[in-house]
Amino acid sequence: MAKNSTPETPRAARMTVPKFAALKGSGQKITMVTAYDYPFARLVDDAGVEGVLVGDSMSMVVQGHENTLPVTLDEMIYHAEMVGRAVNHALVVVDMPFPSFHLGVHKAIDNAGRILKETRCQAVKLEGGVDQAETIAGLVSAGIPVMAHCGLRPQNVHQLGGYRVQRNEDVLMKDAQAAAEAGAFAMVLECIPAGIAARITETLAIPTIGIGAGKDCDGQVLVLHDILGLTTDYTPRFVKAYADLKSTVVGAVTKYRDEVRGGEFPGPEQTFK
Ligand code: KIV
Repeated sequence: MAKNSTPETPRAARMTVPKFAALKGSGQKITMVTAYDYPFARLVDDAGVEGVLVGDSMSMVVQGHENTLPVTLDEMIYHAEMVGRAVNHALVVVDMPFPSFHLGVHKAIDNAGRILKETRCQAVKLEGGVDQAETIAGLVSAGIPVMAHCGLRPQNVHQLGGYRVQRNEDVLMKDAQAAAEAGAFAMVLECIPAGIAARITETLAIPTIGIGAGKDCDGQVLVLHDILGLTTDYTPRFVKAYADLKSTVVGAVTKYRDEVRGGEFPGPEQTFK
């Protein structure tokens, strides 16, 4: 039996890059969600999503930074290794953090190669279109599958002056086409009007995965902490919380605190004689 496989999770059931790309036009919408550690990655994989993204959003939701710029390649690899170990079914994609793919094609291959070598993850994601076409092509020719990320590019936050809906259809279409022609197998479209996302989705042969890009994309991705209602600060309008774990966690820990203070915990069941 291959290392890390179990009888319940045969390797044949594993989502691969070609299978993921082939979901376009299959009639089945693609669901992706982020994960950054072993227990949550295990749970989201059990929930049956097609893709798990070790996003550089980790910088904000896990590390508490104000944007995605501070997270390092070593930190991404440290977390991707946990996620890669946990996931047996979904495709696992890892974000290339800023500026791990901006220093030339060779450096980008070196950095993306580390991600594939040091984790069990299968692909990288990078923010860029026309400007990153050469890098995407270089990575793909080195055998590294690339998911592109067009539209709002959070790593450009300072250049953009904030997180805004991106509305220039000509720029967005050219970016999407350039990334697809360079060999990306799929593309995240972040924070663009639904009509533009629909036209890009119709034009491209690869799946589009929307976040704040309307319902006509081939799939959707959200940040896990937003879905679970764990995000403590600002959440963007395109987010939908499917649970309120913040209240659950605070409630549980408050009850534990009260029971410790009241002498109810540990009780006889938790005590050795
Ligand atoms: O870093 C991330 O989580 C992402 C998604 C929001 C698409 O890039």
